[in-house]
Amino acid sequence: MTGAGGNGSLETVISIADRDIYDADGVLLVAKGKKITPQIYQRLLERKVVLKRQGGEFTSPPPPRRTQDGEQVVAAVAKLTAAIPGLDQELIAAAAARVGELIENGRQSFWSIHLKTLVGYAGWVYSHSLNVALLAVMIGEKLGLARQAGQAVCLGALLHDVGMVLVPPEAINRADPLRPEEVLMVKQHPRVGCDMLRPLALEDAVLTVVGQHHERCDGSGYPAGIRGGEISLLASIVAVADTFDLYTSGRESRTGLEPHQALEAIKSEQHLFWPEVVAGLEAVLRPAWQNASGG
Ligand SMILES: [Fe+2]
Repeated sequence: MTGAGGNGSLETVISIADRDIYDADGVLLVAKGKKITPQIYQRLLERKVVLKRQGGEFTSPPPPRRTQDGEQVVAAVAKLTAAIPGLDQELIAAAAARVGELIENGRQSFWSIHLKTLVGYAGWVYSHSLNVALLAVMIGEKLGLARQAGQAVCLGALLHDVGMVLVPPEAINRADPLRPEEVLMVKQHPRVGCDMLRPLALEDAVLTVVGQHHERCDGSGYPAGIRGGEISLLASIVAVADTFDLYTSGRESRTGLEPHQALEAIKSEQHLFWPEVVAGLEAVLRPAWQNASGG
């Protein structure tokens, strides 16, 4: 990092990152060229990132060897920031740290086995789960969720599709539409996911996210067809993140949208989700586009 002053700016800048800065798990915390403010510096210290001063300049240690999980989180972050230039670095770094930490700390947990099963089942379902977790955590942050609720969103998002293993992988991997019997199986995956996770003594809020992530506020969702306030706020956060990733992924008929098109599509379907969650998604994305355009 090279030293940098305020130059009359209202923002105090300690330094500029001279390289990507990672935590011990290999999660990207600050990208090269980004500003290190006192707040970010404090967070780096809290994350036990050692910053050295050399010849009057700050420098970070070389990135540590990353775990495979860390690599996948970093890859998900890289993909998201490539798709949405200007995304708030602090927000995405905090989300990546939370997702990476949860996976690392859960390594010995039974839920981790269900999550890892997705890698062998269909790699894209695992990547999708990471994408949804990152976005859901960022939306939760914008909504000011308390830490425990934020953790439930993160874990619920990671595990939301574990019940998909009920559906034969060839059904979800082929380009053709699902057969009627396969559609019925897909519509049971939230319930199956809950049944798989229930013996593990997870928080109720996590199971609710898994069980309700395809419910919609107008009652058109599945598996229960519940509506409005019957659906938990945390489940609606994961539903919006899930839908955004689906729309931008190129996997189904209405997919391959640009992020701004996906936001508009979700806003046009606002009646399906908690309105504040859709506003939360917009609060994550809109500043990113303004940053990217220099606005
Ligand atoms: Fe799902």
